[in-house]
Amino acid sequence: MTNKRKVIIVTGAGGGMGKAVVQKLLGQGASVIGLDLSKKGMEEINHEAFYKEEINLLDEDSVKAVFKKYFEKFGKIDGLVNIAGIAQAGKPIQEVTLDEWSKLIGINATGVFLTCKEAVSYMRQNQYGAIVNVGSVSVARPRPGLQSYIASKGAMEAFSRALAIETASDNIRVNVLHPGPAETNMLGQFSSVEKQKEGLNRDVFKQSVPLGSLIQPEDIAEGVSYLLSDGAKMVTGTSLFVDGGRGL
Ligand SMILES: NC(=O)c1ccc[n+]([C@@H]2O[C@H](COP(=O)([O-])OP(=O)(O)OC[C@H]3O[C@@H](n4cnc5c(N)ncnc54)[C@H](O)[C@@H]3O)[C@@H](O)[C@H]2O)c1
Repeated sequence: MTNKRKVIIVTGAGGGMGKAVVQKLLGQGASVIGLDLSKKGMEEINHEAFYKEEINLLDEDSVKAVFKKYFEKFGKIDGLVNIAGIAQAGKPIQEVTLDEWSKLIGINATGVFLTCKEAVSYMRQNQYGAIVNVGSVSVARPRPGLQSYIASKGAMEAFSRALAIETASDNIRVNVLHPGPAETNMLGQFSSVEKQKEGLNRDVFKQSVPLGSLIQPEDIAEGVSYLLSDGAKMVTGTSLFVDGGRGL
């Protein structure tokens, strides 16, 4: 199972999971293009096959331009991994503003639409490609107070299944990976604003995982690597839970 010589675009590449996924794919001999709002996180990784692009994924023109640039450079785009996302601070629906809802839907769902649209148009030309979109176990097992975040990930999952059937005849696979509570900066951002002031209580999240520990970014990278690889050549339109059993 490897992704050697593949050209793979990874969004949110400077975040906790993003960096682990980039490292894993570089280690397998892929060329990786990292997209993130800032280069800061991505700068921790220095590798000749890692290309860093600062981009807001909601800017359609920039998304179009970056896909075009790397398709022209390599002549192919084999993989796309959508990891970029934002969390919702837990709160009841009455307190959620339309702006907050729109921002979550925007980055977590519309951003995925924009990158998938570009990826599919290039993958079709080579009749080959794999897309992995990162969701959340909360879609299967909701917690109170995260209604807008969960809606954004649910939209993304339904979109991914729809895209899987639409692109199967072009040999493009589209899958979702649902993480459980993972050890990254985002983890504490799901608590209520009051709880966030008290600092991150890792134990609360840890106790919610039947296998007894938080998910590590490297666990996510393993799953992404598999779904991208030809070992998963007959896997499409599915959702892989890397959640330590949290969804049960
Ligand atoms: N950490 C968890 O517990 C957890 C659990 C379930 C699902 N997830 C999902 O996993 C994914 C990765 O999360 P993480 O824990 O690595 O978080 P993270 O905050 O470390 O990384 C997210 C990255 O996305 C980037 N990003 C956000 N908006 C962007 C935009 N408009 N344009 C470009 N880049 C943008 C950020 O700059 C950041 O580097 C997210 O989609 C998140 O919803 C996380």
